[in-house]
Amino acid sequence: MAKARSNFICQACGAISPRWQGKCEACGEWNTFVEEAPASGIGAAAARGAKKGRIFALEGLSGESQPAPRILSGLAELDRVTGGGFVPGSVLLIGGEPGIGKSTLLIQACAALARKGERVVYISGEEAAAQVRLRAERLGLADAAVELAAETSVEDIIATLSAGRTPALVVIDSIQTMWTDTADATAGTVTQVRGAAQALIRFAKLSGACVILVGHVTKDGQIAGPRVVEHMVDAVASFEGDGSHHFRILRNVKNRFGPTDEIGVFEMTGGGLAEVANPSALFLAGRDGSAAGAAVFAGMEGTRPVLVEIQALVAPSALGTPRRAVVGWDPSRLSMLVAVLEAHGRIKLGQHDIYLNVAGGMKITEPAADLAAAAALVSSLVGAALPQDMVFFGEVGLSGAVRPVPHAGLRLKEASKLGFSRAVAPQGPQGADSKSEKPNGMGLNAIRHIGEAIADIAALGRGGASGGVKRAAG
Ligand code: TYD
Ligand code: MG
Repeated sequence: MAKARSNFICQACGAISPRWQGKCEACGEWNTFVEEAPASGIGAAAARGAKKGRIFALEGLSGESQPAPRILSGLAELDRVTGGGFVPGSVLLIGGEPGIGKSTLLIQACAALARKGERVVYISGEEAAAQVRLRAERLGLADAAVELAAETSVEDIIATLSAGRTPALVVIDSIQTMWTDTADATAGTVTQVRGAAQALIRFAKLSGACVILVGHVTKDGQIAGPRVVEHMVDAVASFEGDGSHHFRILRNVKNRFGPTDEIGVFEMTGGGLAEVANPSALFLAGRDGSAAGAAVFAGMEGTRPVLVEIQALVAPSALGTPRRAVVGWDPSRLSMLVAVLEAHGRIKLGQHDIYLNVAGGMKITEPAADLAAAAALVSSLVGAALPQDMVFFGEVGLSGAVRPVPHAGLRLKEASKLGFSRAVAPQGPQGADSKSEKPNGMGLNAIRHIGEAIADIAALGRGGASGGVKRAAG
């Protein structure tokens, strides 16, 4: 028998290589390969003692199935991200950088659920029970009947949880600190993280408890990232935000029981995470509408309209190759938009540095932001501020055509609610020009081509009138 060779496994994505590599070719991360013994993998034990398969019954697609029951957490923003509450027997993975507030969010969710009389267990593998208790006390949650433990052995945890009344919710903080006897790699490696997650997922399915796994995302790849278990769990949410802003966004990236793309917005306060029911007001707070290069984008995050400001700075470049820097938006989308503006808008940006920023630390993935980004770029280039009461949305195609985007009505309604009275939006079947979708008092400039928007903004730069947007009568 050939000698069993050990494998090198990328701790970021789980790719396997027979030899050590500096850079993972699968995910592009550096210095993430760690040697792991081959026989330690999950299922290795089963493979050794292979037994004959058991015959099981197969079922048809049609049949009696109830919709998944839900347990509301009591935090509306969290329930929005889970698609209407936790599903019993499901596993949710919440990823995020250390210190972003995952433990804070989950202890708050646990306390809210425990107050409703559910059995809730919080297992911390990183902090002592006293530390968790201290935080709960500071957050004013000490009276909630959350059951706490500082444990890292998955077998012990499952034995303990199986002993009493089945908990409604179990929080495992974090999956990277857990270890299982079935794998003999060190804690935090891909093999251990996968093994521990698999055991906990099996427990969730068998017991009907909802299990939340916390996963740290680290840039240096010192510990296996949550990506290696994403495919195994029912739902994945990532907790985002940055140090300079107080608000945090819980973004749904996978959900077997509901829609994805939904976001929950929280604000980190001295008293823990507070829910933000009206994110648009938060993102637009402190806006200086009189500056050139800022356009308000009427966007959608899942089922909720969210208004954000897109800021651009276009300045003549002193460098041979002008700088292009983007925060909160896709850089290749900016390149495309610049090319379209040059080709179809007769705007010269080739000798200009371009900086684009989505205010407030928000990340935009919707193509509908194209028109707002274009407006911000042109506004900065011509040095004219856009009207303060104007919002933009629409996808820009390579031909310069402005294409309709979904939910025009919702976007306009949100803009109207926040005091905006004019919108530049695409024309067309699903576009914003259908009467029923337009709120009263909203002036609409329904355009077909990017050139129309550019001409209006350029007119502003020359001291032109209202930018071609007529105010609706009544
Ligand atoms: P934490 O939940 O421990 O982060 P994670 O579990 O994702 O690593 O949050 C840590 C940060 O949150 C810490 O830097 C302090 C801040 N924080 C507050 O600002 N207010 C609070 O009430 C709490 C509990 C934490
Ligand atoms: Mg934590």
